[in-house]
Parts: sequence; C-alpha cells; structure tokens
Amino acid sequence: MINPLRGMKDLTFQESQRFNHIIETATTIAKRYGYGYIETPILEETALFRRSVGDSSDIVTKEMYQFEDKGGNDVCMRPEGTAGVVRAFVSAKLDRQPLKQKFYYYGSMFRYERPQKGRLRSFHQFGCESFGEGSVYEDFTIITMIGQIFQALGIGYELKLNSLGCSDCMPTYKRDLVTTLTTIEEELCGDCQRRIQSNPIRVLDCKNSTCQSLLATAPKLIDHLCESCNQDFKTLTALLDSADIAYCVDTHLVRGLDYYNKSAFEFVSDQIGAQSAIAGGGRYDKLVEYLDGKPTPAVGFAIGIERIMELVQMPEPTREGIYLGSMVAEGIAPLLHLATRKRQETKVTVEYNPKGFKSHMKGADKAGARYCVLIGEDELANGTLWVKDLQTKEEQTPNREAF
Ligand code: HAM
Repeated sequence: MINPLRGMKDLTFQESQRFNHIIETATTIAKRYGYGYIETPILEETALFRRSVGDSSDIVTKEMYQFEDKGGNDVCMRPEGTAGVVRAFVSAKLDRQPLKQKFYYYGSMFRYERPQKGRLRSFHQFGCESFGEGSVYEDFTIITMIGQIFQALGIGYELKLNSLGCSDCMPTYKRDLVTTLTTIEEELCGDCQRRIQSNPIRVLDCKNSTCQSLLATAPKLIDHLCESCNQDFKTLTALLDSADIAYCVDTHLVRGLDYYNKSAFEFVSDQIGAQSAIAGGGRYDKLVEYLDGKPTPAVGFAIGIERIMELVQMPEPTREGIYLGSMVAEGIAPLLHLATRKRQETKVTVEYNPKGFKSHMKGADKAGARYCVLIGEDELANGTLWVKDLQTKEEQTPNREAF
C-alpha cells in the first residue's frame, strides 16, 4: 500500500465538507469586498520566491520543494500565494492600469517543514491581495474582512498587530537593532547569531526563551517609526478601536516573509496548540517593483485552511433532494428515467436494488433526502409514485409524469 508523503494529507469525507464550507464562506465575503478569482501555477521559477519571500528567510533557505525540471530550469512548488499573484499581476501588465485590482485565491502550498500538529508540508491557504490602494483604510478594511470570515465560520481569534515601517525608518532602526544585538551576541542562540548579519529583524520573533528575555530591552521599531508610518499606525488602531475590534500590539511580530512594510498582522487561536497562527498578512508596497512592475502599493492576507478546519462550526445539515427506491424489480427502470429528469433540478439518490419499505426509509434518511419516493406493486400498476416529505411528514401519490 502506498501512503501519502510525510506531512501531506488527503481531504476526504467530513474534512472535504469542511474545506468546501470554508472556501464558500470566504469566497462569498471576499466577493462582497470586490475581490475576483485568480489562479496561478503551483510551479514557479525559484527566483520568484528568492526575490519576494527573501533569500535569507527560513522558507527560502530551508523549506522549498525545489528541483531542476527536464528543461534544466530551476523551479519550485509555491510555498505561499502572494508572490505568484504579484508575478501574474505584472505579467498581465495590470501595474500599468490606473484601476485598483483585488484578487482572491485558494489552493495548495508546499513547505518542507518538520511536520507536527497544524504544520504540514502540503497545506491550503485562502488568500486575498489588493493592489493599487496605498491608504491605511484598506488595511483596516482587510482586517474587518478577515474578522467577518472568522465570525461567519464561528471561529474566535486574537488579532496581533505591528508596523514594520518603511524604507525611510526601517534602515535606521535596523542599524540600532544590530548595534544592540552585537552587544548581546554571545548569549543569543546560534540561529540568531547568524541572523544579526543576514536578517536582524527576524531575531525579534525567535522562539528561544533566552533570546526573548534578552530582547526585552532592545529598541522597538514602533517607537522609531517615521511621521507617515506613525500616523498610519495611529489611524489604523483608532479605526479598530472605534469598530470595537480587539487587537494587541506585538512589537516582536515581524512575519516570516521579507516583503512586508507598514502594517503587519496575525490572527491567532488559543484552541489549536503551538501552531496558533490561523491567518497572516500585511502591506507590501515594494513587492510589485521588486518583481519588475511599476510601483504599486498592495496589502493582503492568507488564512491557513487546515489550521481552522477543526474550529469551524458547521451549519446544521438540511434535508435536500430526493431518494428513489422500488419494492419490485420492474420499478427500477422507471425510477432511473425519473432520476435523470429530476437531476435537472435537484440532488437524487437512486437505490438500484428492490428492497422492503423500512429499508428504503432508512436509506432515504441516510442519504439526507427531503423526499422519499417509492414504487410498490400498486404504484407500478397505476403509473403513480408514493411520495413522503420527510420534513413535514406529508404523503402523496402523484402520477409519475406529474411529479
Ligand atoms: P504566512 O503567515 O506564511 O503568510 O501563512 C499564512 C497562514 O498559512 C498561516 O497563518 C498559517 O495559518 C498557514 N500556514 C503556514 N504554514 C503552514 C504549514 N506548514 N502548515 C499548515 N498551515 C500553514 C503567507 O503565506 C502570506 N503569503 C500571506 C499574505 C498574503 N500576506 C500578504 N498577502
């Protein structure tokens, strides 16, 4: 027997129903906010992720499913969705149109991580990317959209927020941080020692408790924002306050992807263990330029579908469609023709074997059908059907053609 690869899972039965419910709910809400569907290939040039997610990020250095294809191209399975959407945006020359463009997508992402609960190597995201709107009002709007999606799915969350500044304030802050980190270098973990040069900001969200306590007094970017970033952050928090959306400012929230600036956020759940982030996102105003497009501000997010799978409150199942069964062998053929006709309008389950009344009633119940429609000796002779509405319990015997 061949099993799925480590860290990869099939979506079957109840999980696939949950998956569909999540996608349908998120899609309905994203459309209300003006987002249209986009699909990009799973396989992309490796250079795309090096340039966007970042050469020194864990995702690029350790987690990519990267290989040379038969044509000798360096390719990789997408570890996230934003880079591909930005590439598609630039490829289609949408960066040259004055219109604001908003896209939603969902699909498989691949990261060669150490699998554990909530951390898979093949997982699904639902994401949205909004291009062309530089106003912080869009950041607020996106946060309210994610909140509405989680509310519609019955999921509680905590919102963590930070500002990562911009090309004016970030470099000065980075220099200050490196100076501080250098003074405590010896005491930091090996990863952080390396990051001082390659990616000092990532030291801030190191999970090592010694590093965390050493960093308690390190300078905070939020205290060193330039006027414009500071104003935007204040506007965002004031809007969230007035909308009664609870959040906590987490000055160590830096995200694992290098393309962010200004607002960065994560939605976390305390119900799912250590891998608690259920959605993440933020602003990435420079990424379109990095990928050779015209300067275009952008902001987006992605929800981890597997992370919320068990949190989703599924709606009560409603009875739907028709169950068709016969008590006599000759009744099956007319039912097959009836099924074809009825499938033009509703879901139909047909039992191919003649069975007793009770057995059919059980079958109709199991199928979740609204109507149980049966043919017995009498119905066969009269050209009628026995129909029971399993919700109202009403019974009728209409002509076969009239039903
Ligand atoms: P991310 O934070 O890397 O952001 O991933 C978003 C979400 O995907 C996480 O919050 C988590 O729920 C889920 N996730 C990540 N890795 C795994 C894994 N190994 N197993 C299961 N679930 C996982 C991004 O990917 C950005 N592209 C989000 C974004 C869109 N930012 C702007 N636009």
